[in-house]
Amino acid sequence: MRWLVTGGLGFIGSNFIRLALHERPSLEVVNLDAMTYAGNPANLRDIEAEPRYRFVQGDICDPAAVAHAIGDGVDAIVNFAAETHVDRSILDPEAFLRTDILGTHVLLEAVRERSVPRYLQVSTDEVYGDVSEGESTENDPLRPRSPYSASKAGGDLQVLAYRATYGTPVLITRGSNTYGPYQYPEKLIPLFVTNLLDGQQVPVYGDGLQIRDWLHVQDHARGIMHVLECGEVGHVYNIGGGNPWTNIDITRSLVESCGRSMDTHVRYVIDRPGHDRRYAVDTTKARALGWAPRKDFAQGLLETIAWYRDNESWWRPLKSGEFLDYYKRQYAHR
Ligand code: DAU
Repeated sequence: MRWLVTGGLGFIGSNFIRLALHERPSLEVVNLDAMTYAGNPANLRDIEAEPRYRFVQGDICDPAAVAHAIGDGVDAIVNFAAETHVDRSILDPEAFLRTDILGTHVLLEAVRERSVPRYLQVSTDEVYGDVSEGESTENDPLRPRSPYSASKAGGDLQVLAYRATYGTPVLITRGSNTYGPYQYPEKLIPLFVTNLLDGQQVPVYGDGLQIRDWLHVQDHARGIMHVLECGEVGHVYNIGGGNPWTNIDITRSLVESCGRSMDTHVRYVIDRPGHDRRYAVDTTKARALGWAPRKDFAQGLLETIAWYRDNESWWRPLKSGEFLDYYKRQYAHR
């Protein structure tokens, strides 16, 4: 078995590769990654020398790079490569359209031309848009409301169109908010933890009462692998943690666990434009395949804080250069 994983130097992709190589002793993995700001070789330092692992630097929008990574053939492609941060998509949507839509198209064409037996698109619960009550099922209409989620929805629709038109053997997973080790410190949990460890304030958007469903990255990676191996071709599977928390409750938990105070370390800032209040997914379908999240959220959060505390040498270099420019653009005027 040989799988091509794209975007495998990112947060969920790197955790997936580590898990897959560990769980499947005869599996080979080729990792095609463009090494954008979020693609970090340090995420897979521990498996760089593994003979079953090969790294190829390249962009999924480049058909030649994709062909090179496929080499003399792969049994599956798992597409993690994406621009993923909602706030960046509001500042600069174009990169999202390119990677999340055009990149998906290039991969689907490669799957078609090379008759790759399985293609899995890693997507997001954000494609369903704001869910004021109940839980989104896989058949619900897509109502994305940010340039990021609209780009991901565009990718999903192409994947399903290839299934209908060419019979391409595709699968889609739609994951909820993911947290854990190796997450680039622009997202809520790693940004807040690293700020708090540094004694800095954390910027809470609006009233902080927005709800997200939190999923540990190992549970997410296991879910994707399970769907890849056991899912029914042409189907979509929601992968959610079942941990709905308001942002302010998470903030309180992080502030207290880092020994800081809500009065001095929390700053309420102007809300994100078009901010979705709530996401929630129905995971009955993935659970019927035999997958379920295992990590208790309170425990997972404490472990994650401990990981960032113990791995300062991983995140400290990331919070410099490009990150500081972004942080200023994103937060200075709020
Ligand atoms: O739901 C899955 C999605 O979760 C993924 O598809 C996205 O790639 C991922 O970025 C994430 O999207 P969110 O926008 O929910 O994640 P983020 O960590 O940016 O924000 C989580 C919540 O925290 C959201 O309601 C906005 C809020 N927030 C975020 C940041 C960065 C703040 O209040 N302050 C902040 O500084």
